[in-house]
Amino acid sequence: MSESVLRYGLFGLGRCGCVHGEILIAQGQPIAAIGDENPAALASAKQRLGVRGAAEFTNASDMARHKEIDAVVIATHTKDHARDAEPFVRAGIPIYLEKPLTADLAEAFAFVKTVGLRRNLMQIGLQRRFDQALAYAKELIDGGLLGEIREIRAVLRDQHPPPATYFSRGLIIDMGIHVADEVLWLTGEFPRVVWGRMFNAKNYQSPIDEGGNTAHVGFTTERGTICRLDLSRTHASGYNNETYVIGTKGTLHVGRFSGYPGQIPVELWTERGSLHPRSKNFQMAECAGNCAEFQPRFQKAFERAHRQFREAAKHHRDFAVTQAEVLDAQVLVEAAHRSAARGGVDYFVARSEGLEAYRQLCRDSKLLEESALRSS
Ligand SMILES: NC(=O)c1ccc[n+]([C@@H]2O[C@H](COP(=O)([O-])OP(=O)(O)OC[C@H]3O[C@@H](n4cnc5c(N)ncnc54)[C@H](O)[C@@H]3O)[C@@H](O)[C@H]2O)c1
Repeated sequence: MSESVLRYGLFGLGRCGCVHGEILIAQGQPIAAIGDENPAALASAKQRLGVRGAAEFTNASDMARHKEIDAVVIATHTKDHARDAEPFVRAGIPIYLEKPLTADLAEAFAFVKTVGLRRNLMQIGLQRRFDQALAYAKELIDGGLLGEIREIRAVLRDQHPPPATYFSRGLIIDMGIHVADEVLWLTGEFPRVVWGRMFNAKNYQSPIDEGGNTAHVGFTTERGTICRLDLSRTHASGYNNETYVIGTKGTLHVGRFSGYPGQIPVELWTERGSLHPRSKNFQMAECAGNCAEFQPRFQKAFERAHRQFREAAKHHRDFAVTQAEVLDAQVLVEAAHRSAARGGVDYFVARSEGLEAYRQLCRDSKLLEESALRSS
């Protein structure tokens, strides 16, 4: 199938914006405009991406008025996502918006109230939804091969701290959103009780304060599924992403650490203690030496996410992961972040299809009050 072509704007050109830019260029997509509020980031990205002739902008509103873009990728600081996405929504330009939607849950609700819940406005950069190994795992779960899910644990561990320029409101908000969404997606459930704890593992130096370098998040659902997220930036042997699902009929282990870069095993263990024939290995991508640490594991998922985004944008179809889904994951990480700030107390959460009712439930759960543990 030939690639759809869109004229892209890239707004936010730090580490992640450049990763997206390189993928789009490799996919034969024209970069018609580039932008960043920081001129140094703009200049360095222009050189790194080798884009010539692209219009240049230092704010999102001006880029959104540019007539020659069909779509935009926004990878600015998380705290600026809503501010930078809104002009493109108003201009009717489809957005690939990096995760999370916003740094604050209250701001997320305000933003969704402004832009609405239409599913063809923006695709959120939760690339696990496009990862072949995880999509295959979901197929096995949905096919009933595990029986009913009793327990699920998702692990996300970086090898290194983020860059000095990075904005994070806290480790649970920033890293947790990926695996929070993954677990909600794989189980099809929403949390009922949520708790979190933050830790400082030994001998770790970061240029930014995220409230700790390691976190455990736990939650249970209305149906009694027991869930856990393990997060850290201290995995000395390489980027580590794995998901372990215990069902009533078997166990599924996705991405058991086996070298980085390396294979991504999807191992389905039966009640007889043997490997099911539908177990399968996926391969990480080969990336250049200077790539971001998450690229070998997720490069192919980023590529698929962009292809799917273009097809949906071109045919005015719904995006696969939107502001609605990321809002659910944000509720979960907000509750865990607040719990961790209060020593691990339980937060009770609930959702509603109606935005105002959902917001009220979050208010009742004390998730919208001005919060502690904020880094900059
Ligand atoms: N989907 C993923 O796996 C993934 C991975 C990393 C980051 N992200 C998301 O992408 C967004 C941006 O993250 P990032 O890692 O690109 O952060 P970053 O700190 O590298 O870039 C963010 C901003 O910092 C400034 N900046 C960066 N490098 C600079 C430089 N050399 N000189 C001057 N200014 C500079 C720029 O204004 C830039 O837009 C965040 O919302 C983050 O959550 C997603």
